[in-house]
Amino acid sequence: MRNLSCWLILLLHLQFIVPEKNCKKSQPVFAAHGETVTLQVTVVEAKQIKQIFWVTSRGVHIATSQPNNPLEIREEFYEGRLIAFSDGSLIIKDPKMEDSGIIKATIYLLDGEDCSETYNLTVFGKCENLEVHVSTGRNVTLNVKELNIAKVMWEGPRGVIFATTKPGGYIDPQESRYNERLAGSHDGSLTILKVSAPDQGIYRAFVFTPDGVGCVCVYTVSLAEGRSSTSSSITVCVMTGIVCGLAALISIY
Ligand SMILES: *[C@@H]1O[C@H](CO)[C@@H](O)[C@H](O)[C@H]1NC(C)=O
Ligand SMILES: *[C@@H]1O[C@H](CO)[C@@H](O)[C@H](O)[C@H]1NC(C)=O
Repeated sequence: MRNLSCWLILLLHLQFIVPEKNCKKSQPVFAAHGETVTLQVTVVEAKQIKQIFWVTSRGVHIATSQPNNPLEIREEFYEGRLIAFSDGSLIIKDPKMEDSGIIKATIYLLDGEDCSETYNLTVFGKCENLEVHVSTGRNVTLNVKELNIAKVMWEGPRGVIFATTKPGGYIDPQESRYNERLAGSHDGSLTILKVSAPDQGIYRAFVFTPDGVGCVCVYTVSLAEGRSSTSSSITVCVMTGIVCGLAALISIY
């Protein structure tokens, strides 16, 4: 019996190491404390899925999901924090720093054409929620003032990373919708030029420090009537032993 479980553990490890057919390229997934994050199974139709094994890079089999069936949670650490969508996708509630890392979903299909998807989950501390009102046609700066920024990845209202900034004015725009309408700045902040209705919504700034992961700042951008306004706030966020002092300031020109 003991031998058997050893073999099972070995098998699970092998399963993780041996490259098998990927149903999709590995994808980065960013999450913040207190939110929920979905590891979405994207490539196969739910009706073809027999079951999905969710395994961490350390070879720990954390859960098994089956479309339209209850999720089986296999690790106490995840008890009460995991649920599954009807298609078998995994939802992690209140993600923790320790959840960060590669999670692999091995998808067993009815036709035997099994494949896997990997998710590179990074869990950030939570910094700030800010509301900002901007008049149509104005520029808006989403300002992140942290002393130790390596880079900031910006997620737009549609949940897609659309730009990366670095201190010194570096900007790497990644979505054509914002073509020619983005500017970086000396401190890593982002300016969106000539704001219009489709720019409204929730933006998230994922702040990376030189040591690794920092925190995420959330900006709710909405169009305001009349004159522009300015809001600012200062916040300190604490994460796993690292204290990052962060002053976030939004100003509208
Ligand atoms: C996973 O994401 C982290 C943070 O974004 C990155 O540093 C790391 O290189 C990624 N790992 C892999 C295997 O892609
Ligand atoms: C917005 O920024 C651009 C580029 O920096 C500048 O030329 C323009 O005058 C600004 N518009 C407003 C309304 O301040």
